[in-house]
Amino acid sequence: MGAGKTTRGWDVARLLGRPFVDVDEAIATAHGPIAELFATRGEAAFRELEARFVREALARHEPTVIAVGGGAVETPDLVRDDRAVVVHLRIDVETAWERVKRSERPLAQDEAEFRRRFELRVPLYASVADATAHDRDDVVLAVAGVHVERGAVQRLGDLVPGEGAVALVSDPQVAGIHGMDAQLALGSRLAETHELPPGEEAKTLAALDRLWQELRLDRSGTVVALGGGCTTDAAGFAAAAYLRGIPWTPVPTSLVAQVDAAIGGKTAIDLPQGKNLVGAFDWPDRTVIDPALLETLPEPQRLEGMAEVVKTGLLAGAPYWELPDDELVRRCAAFKSAVCLRDPHERGERAMLNLGHTFAHALETAAGYEGLTHGRAVALGLLAALRLSGRETGIVEEVLKPKPVRVDRDRAWQAMHRDKKARGGELRLVLLGDDGPRWNVAVPEEDVRRELDRLIA
Ligand SMILES: NC(=O)c1ccc[n+]([C@@H]2O[C@H](COP(=O)([O-])OP(=O)(O)OC[C@H]3O[C@@H](n4cnc5c(N)ncnc54)[C@H](O)[C@@H]3O)[C@@H](O)[C@H]2O)c1
Ligand SMILES: [Zn+2]
Repeated sequence: MGAGKTTRGWDVARLLGRPFVDVDEAIATAHGPIAELFATRGEAAFRELEARFVREALARHEPTVIAVGGGAVETPDLVRDDRAVVVHLRIDVETAWERVKRSERPLAQDEAEFRRRFELRVPLYASVADATAHDRDDVVLAVAGVHVERGAVQRLGDLVPGEGAVALVSDPQVAGIHGMDAQLALGSRLAETHELPPGEEAKTLAALDRLWQELRLDRSGTVVALGGGCTTDAAGFAAAAYLRGIPWTPVPTSLVAQVDAAIGGKTAIDLPQGKNLVGAFDWPDRTVIDPALLETLPEPQRLEGMAEVVKTGLLAGAPYWELPDDELVRRCAAFKSAVCLRDPHERGERAMLNLGHTFAHALETAAGYEGLTHGRAVALGLLAALRLSGRETGIVEEVLKPKPVRVDRDRAWQAMHRDKKARGGELRLVLLGDDGPRWNVAVPEEDVRRELDRLIA
């Protein structure tokens, strides 16, 4: 009571584009004010009525955000449903009492009684909740199955869903630094460990062929991918196809992977013809993000990730790049989770996550993927996207310090065309409008070419 379920519920529903049911409000609409129901029929009768409304809401076919009254946990097994993610909106008793003390709520008329109930319910919430949340982003992360917690790796055995055996897949560098912690935390669940080659070498058919032949898990097992985006992309695809698909849990260790690659269920390997050409959409059972892992990340890798952080902040209209690591990761992961929950298979708005990327891919192709990292290319691409959006570029310059790159101009221009099929002299790009990101925006070719040229030394 007083935790803000109605406000947050609306927030989350609006953000995810889902309907919202406030159980208390539905009851009041159908049967009159709750205070009166309590007075005339008593609490037991109210709980019965409440149970009916909660079950009805849970039975809806369409995914729905449901705010359940604070007392519903007192009805055994009511707030439990395999299809539902149950989120406990955390609040302390002082704040809760301050918010409700002058309200009409029947159970908030006496402070001592209010506190007694509050204490009584705390363990009940803990026993039904899949996750606890303090704000909207926490709720979105819970719905997406993304668990962000400093030190989470130490609890990996509990955090990997299910009870079956685990195959731990990593790269040599990450295995050397964090592999032992992960193995210890997985305890008796750890059945096998595997190493993929470092970097993009992991995302090859040869590497996966070897991994598939080594895997011994049966269908009750889980692949845990501990590493950067190359490890999570490759191991995720390995899990998606092994035995026609078994569960997987990425444990991203690089900034790129924590804010981007391990969120949203895209897995892939590369072909000689291009990056990410074979893969699967396969939403992980859970994503475990431990921001403490970033402390061993080399500075150049951190800068790679910051390019995606700046991209995310620009899309969200909030300076995420200024936040301390834990919060920066949480906010970026929540933003990407929300976009991907709304559009899991990239039929529409998920394309916004490509802000700056059409330019970046063109520059990377022109550089032959040598000497130009993805992050550096994205930093340049963001400059171009901001200029075409009529925006200041100061933040990108300040945080990412992009420098024009020496590549062949015509090769870059050709690659740009291949990446986004031009229609009638126009290219389609993601831009920032006054009211937020827009995707599939037609931009005249000469404007695109001019901005591309400015990125090249
Ligand atoms: N699936 C998606 O939606 C998505 C999104 C963005 C990027 N990606 C993919 O991600 C890949 C790039 O990811 P990346 O930049 O993480 O590359 P990566 O996996 O190669 O990791 C970069 C380097 O950092 C090291 N490293 C990682 N974590 C570390 C840690 N905690 N301490 C010390 N060293 C650590 C790795 O060993 C590696 O050498 C690309 O293949 C890209 O296509 C996928
Ligand atoms: Zn990127």
